[in-house]
Amino acid sequence: MCGIVGYIGDRNAQEILTGGLRRLEYRGYDSAGIVTTNDAGKATRLRAKGKVAELDEKVLAHKKTDHVGIGHTRWATHGVPSERNAHPHRVGAIYLVHNGIIENYRDIKELLTTKGYAFNSDTDTEVLTALVDLFYKTQSTKNLLAAVSEALQMAVGAYGIAVLAADSPEELVVARKGSPLVIGVSEGEVYVASDPSALVGHTDQVIYLKDGEIATCRREGVELYDIATNVVEKVVEKLELDLQAIQKKGFDHFLLKEIYEQPDTLRSTLSGRVQLEGMYAKLGGLNMSDKELSEVEHVLVVGCGTAYYAGQLASYYIEQCSDKVTVQVAIASELRYRSFNLPKNTVALVVSQSGETADTHACLRELQKRGIRCLGIVNAVGSTIAREVDGGVYVHVGAEISVASTKAFTSQVAAMLLFGLVVAQAKGAGKQEIGAYLQELDALPDEITRIIEEHAEEMKQLAKTYASYEHALFMGRDTMFPVALEGALKLKEISYIQAEGYAAGELKHGPIALVDDRFFEVALVADNLLYEKSMSNLIEINARGGHTIVLTDSDKPIDAEAVVRISTKLKLLSPLLFNVLLQLFAYHMAVERGNDVDQPRNLAKSVTVE
Ligand code: G6P
Repeated sequence: MCGIVGYIGDRNAQEILTGGLRRLEYRGYDSAGIVTTNDAGKATRLRAKGKVAELDEKVLAHKKTDHVGIGHTRWATHGVPSERNAHPHRVGAIYLVHNGIIENYRDIKELLTTKGYAFNSDTDTEVLTALVDLFYKTQSTKNLLAAVSEALQMAVGAYGIAVLAADSPEELVVARKGSPLVIGVSEGEVYVASDPSALVGHTDQVIYLKDGEIATCRREGVELYDIATNVVEKVVEKLELDLQAIQKKGFDHFLLKEIYEQPDTLRSTLSGRVQLEGMYAKLGGLNMSDKELSEVEHVLVVGCGTAYYAGQLASYYIEQCSDKVTVQVAIASELRYRSFNLPKNTVALVVSQSGETADTHACLRELQKRGIRCLGIVNAVGSTIAREVDGGVYVHVGAEISVASTKAFTSQVAAMLLFGLVVAQAKGAGKQEIGAYLQELDALPDEITRIIEEHAEEMKQLAKTYASYEHALFMGRDTMFPVALEGALKLKEISYIQAEGYAAGELKHGPIALVDDRFFEVALVADNLLYEKSMSNLIEINARGGHTIVLTDSDKPIDAEAVVRISTKLKLLSPLLFNVLLQLFAYHMAVERGNDVDQPRNLAKSVTVE
């Protein structure tokens, strides 16, 4: 989603800012802009609809040697994507970039209109900029910190902002409430970003702003304040992210790199947590005693998008691990607005790759308000959700740059399964029951490597055959059902093919009416007790002239247009192998259709507004 960068120091601000914005491109955006000022207070604002490359051209035509500035990539919420609506917004001497939404912007706009302000854009951000300007210009001292503080005390909503006053180019003021901001400090310079990946290579010393904090950034250093400008103590942390992690390493796309990385990233998730010698699972960061774990009776999993589907799949495993635990999986945007009841001894697993998804974060706050213990299943270290949960499991998959999530899914499922095992252990489950899962988890990375090696080309060829279709139906039973849902999501996200995931048993209750020449169907058929049931679904589709692709780990004869047969020793975790193949399939479909694989249209990586 929207991205913020800022810089003050001795280097060329235009270069630093556009470089930072390129790092944030992966989050999804539709316009970009920067403003820099020189020592005499002359500002140069450049904005462009479309990609940062368009902005680069403008920078080339208006090169400056300024050393301070702010920049933004915008994902439209209020007002269409256009140069006029792109940030930074300017009112008087004030320039401002903003992530999030100012909910009461209409009221503020009305008030400002009575004071003579007129507006050039359709955005809530311009209104906030004008409000800062109002307070700034009415002060005798022109104190930017005080003006921002006063404006934010009137604003309702979520924001991460960076503000510059052209006539006081020696400082930037930044603030956050509900939308992340991180400040990078180095000798004589300060960097600002909404995502730490923009800071990599510049500094590894960072300050994560907390909700309700404002900071002044000057060459000499950073000062933190609360919203009422009382000084707050700052904590400088080490950023654990390197350049390697955010490069393509020879792959054509980040998505493909991230699919191929899965054996390694999964090993990082499992490292130290799967103990084959003593046959136990170990999670260090739960902040729960064995007694507390043994008392868990209900698990609520909450997330959005791929994280939600990871929760769906994990729910089967957690319930398999212990017959004394029930599991419920909720879409965060639904849970946050409905009335819901939870049984006693519930633990919530809050699942988010970015750790910043607004709906998921809102659920976390609501659950904590109700006194529910919340554990994070998070990737981004230091992210908002990771900081606010009561404990949790970092999945440690490194930077996931492609908008469509792949490696995070696999590791989220593994991490939640480990949680299920830890609870089962605490409840007295035997080594044998636990051991079956631990052995499969241990074998999974190598199995993924082998499956990719054996089937990557096959998935590519399959994509060539089916890339011209506009509709697809994915179906599976039991643990293959969530994989069908995630496979359909992956395909629609990056190929723009309309794809639906279905529980195969539901076929007769609706979707079979769709089967015709414009559709293809992907059936995930596990070689288990439900094999015959899955086969009868297939027969029903074939009888209606469907175009079926079957992915199976069975070697029995199957009548379908295409059959992908995998052989694996995994019985419990084979759905994760099927999922990797569906990731490859979606990738090649998107490539065949000439799409922007890593930054699909209209999508954002980290959805920080609801
Ligand atoms: C966006 C992304 C998805 C992701 C979802 C949840 O929609 O495009 O790939 O699954 O957000 O993100 P999270 O960071 O909370 O896992």
